[in-house]
Amino acid sequence: MELKNKVIVVTGAAGGIGRAAALMAAREGALLAISDIDAGGLVETVQQLAGMGVPVYSDVLDVTDAQQVERYMNAAASHFGRLDGAFNNAGVGGEIARLHNLSEASWDKVIDVNLKGVWLSMKYQLPLLREAGGGAVVNMASVAGLIGFPHNAVYSAAKHGVVGLTKSAAGEYARDNVRVNAVCPGYIDTPMVAMLEKVRPGLVNATLQGTPLRRLGTPDEIAEVVVFLLSARASFITGHAFGIDGGLSAI
Ligand SMILES: NC(=O)c1ccc[n+]([C@@H]2O[C@H](COP(=O)([O-])OP(=O)(O)OC[C@H]3O[C@@H](n4cnc5c(N)ncnc54)[C@H](O)[C@@H]3O)[C@@H](O)[C@H]2O)c1
Repeated sequence: MELKNKVIVVTGAAGGIGRAAALMAAREGALLAISDIDAGGLVETVQQLAGMGVPVYSDVLDVTDAQQVERYMNAAASHFGRLDGAFNNAGVGGEIARLHNLSEASWDKVIDVNLKGVWLSMKYQLPLLREAGGGAVVNMASVAGLIGFPHNAVYSAAKHGVVGLTKSAAGEYARDNVRVNAVCPGYIDTPMVAMLEKVRPGLVNATLQGTPLRRLGTPDEIAEVVVFLLSARASFITGHAFGIDGGLSAI
């Protein structure tokens, strides 16, 4: 088991990639602290983990609220006695619009959840990881954090920001024995992509035409890499952003 008795925090765990990663980490022996702003979906994930007999701490959490994030991270760590790792996954899709038509509210929301949320999560996780003698963080970026995404500039800007934050944190906390990496999925079969298809029919298919593997990824295909990066098998890997995108960013 890759994560036997490791205490791992997962944000945005009410569905999609976050839930898949929580379940896979649990199968690898982790003790899970999960959260999401969506209480209903979170309960479903808790029930799935409970069905596997996995110890779980869960609470509703808005990652844009500093006080909530501080309280949650400390509570999760005291529940299990320490913190060993985190998958900072919570995020929202961006408004599909040309940049000059993008509303300020939409800009603020995407930057707040996708970038500030990751920073706040790390801000309150890193002291706990240092206290535990080290650990591993995986931040959720996107292929849109590696290349530009016309008509989704704010999402791309936020995810590029996550990559920069990840690299900087890796340099800053390596001496504390904390590794920090990011994952950069292409289009993955989750509620977020279903919503995108509803708003802009045909956009997903058009992107898949430029994807060498010509299909959506699955949440489990991202979870595999997250679990690997959290585990000791990735002990010499820090400061990197991994494209898991069917080749989209390679050509
Ligand atoms: N699906 C894709 O194609 C894809 C591709 C690249 C990156 N991502 C990223 O993966 C992550 C997970 O997305 P997903 O595809 O599983 O979609 P999803 O919508 O199922 O998951 C996102 C989760 O984040 C939660 N969330 C939203 N705002 C929040 C907040 N303020 N505080 C706490 N939780 C909040 C949502 O409730 C949801 O459960 C996101 O960061 C997304 O940007 C997704």
